[in-house]
Amino acid sequence: MTTKLLNLVLILAICSTFVICNAGGPKKQNFYKKNDVRDNYYAEHCPRAEEVVQSITEKHVLSNPSLPAKLIRVLFHDCFVRGCDGSVLLDSTPNFQSEKEAIPNRGLSGFDVINEIKATLENECPEIVSCADILTLATRDAVSFQYGRPLWKVPTGRRDGTISLASEVLGNIPSPFSNFTVLKNDFERKGLSIADLVALSGAHTIGVGHCNLFSRRLFNFTGNNDQDPSLNPKYANFLRSQCEGPNDRTTTVEMDPGSSLSFDNHYFQILREDKGLFVSDATLLTNKKARKFTKKLLNPKKFFDEFAKSMEKMGVIEVLTGTQGEIRKQCNFVNNN
Ligand code: HEM
Ligand SMILES: *[C@@H]1O[C@H](CO)[C@@H](O)[C@H](O)[C@H]1NC(C)=O
Ligand SMILES: *[C@@H]1O[C@H](CO)[C@@H](O)[C@H](O)[C@H]1NC(C)=O
Repeated sequence: MTTKLLNLVLILAICSTFVICNAGGPKKQNFYKKNDVRDNYYAEHCPRAEEVVQSITEKHVLSNPSLPAKLIRVLFHDCFVRGCDGSVLLDSTPNFQSEKEAIPNRGLSGFDVINEIKATLENECPEIVSCADILTLATRDAVSFQYGRPLWKVPTGRRDGTISLASEVLGNIPSPFSNFTVLKNDFERKGLSIADLVALSGAHTIGVGHCNLFSRRLFNFTGNNDQDPSLNPKYANFLRSQCEGPNDRTTTVEMDPGSSLSFDNHYFQILREDKGLFVSDATLLTNKKARKFTKKLLNPKKFFDEFAKSMEKMGVIEVLTGTQGEIRKQCNFVNNN
């Protein structure tokens, strides 16, 4: 009897404390979604999921050192169109051209690696692990491989979208010809700040760009056969020597010359020497706040911290969770239930 009473008092005490805490503090429920992504979402139903992603990804990076650049660009293009829902992975159907067909996405690759991981995981735990999570994890593991430790955290539990429209790409993927104001707005619409824009542009420390996307800066910037005054003149000469001419759509150059396979903060060093490849790179120096931040990111530790923070933000843009979307059986097709 007394024990029961004590229990009741205890419960009441705990409850009222909870209520008081809840009423007094900020309304946390508004920000906390029950089905939000979380660390190790697959621990129970597919405990080896993250291991499988990592081992297959690393196997491919060993034979293809440009894979990290390919994957991180695919992830960026996924997250900026309908959120990180794997929509960029879908193939076109007879009725719809998918995101892959849109001009900014035509050069994307690495899909075969995602599909191989998916096939392996479907064998091990069918219809559990989303393609959106596979892409997010594989990107992290590919970029991190050279360091032998994960460079940022990837909470999981994303679900796969069922819609992928080529027509939605141009309006959402930032253009290499854009000025700072436009880029800032592009990122703001995805919940990303100027700091995120600057830090994430640091991904251009790996990979390559096609001549036609920066040749105007070399040959005919304002229409008077001039070059972009914000481009380092010596570097412009070098770039001109690499490209066939103003309409060369096939030649690529390293975005971070000499170190385009190494993920590091060297991008910010060359950027500040006016050697950013695209107008969208150079323009980061035209805004006071952004320019100041590029200077901070010359410090490697600061760069890795900030890049990690911004990748974690980009990786959860408009994610589908809970019962939204589906878990695809194949990453390039929606399920046909
Ligand atoms: C700030 C806005 C951005 C613009 C305008 C932009 C634009 C571009 C363009 C035009 C290319 C070259 C494509 C080609 O010639 O094939 C490129 C490549 C690349 N971008 Fe961006 N990008 C931006 C932000 C990002 C972000 C946020 C990431 C990742 C976090 C990223 C990662 C990459 C990588 C790794 C490559 C090289 C891909 C390869 O080597 O295949 N970019 N970007
Ligand atoms: C940036 O580009 C947009 C779109 O082309 C243009 O309307 C705007 O005037 C430009 N802003 C600056 C500061 O050049
Ligand atoms: C340079 O641009 C101007 C104005 O857009 C154009 O009339 C001219 O034909 C271009 N020159 C070359 C060599 O492409």
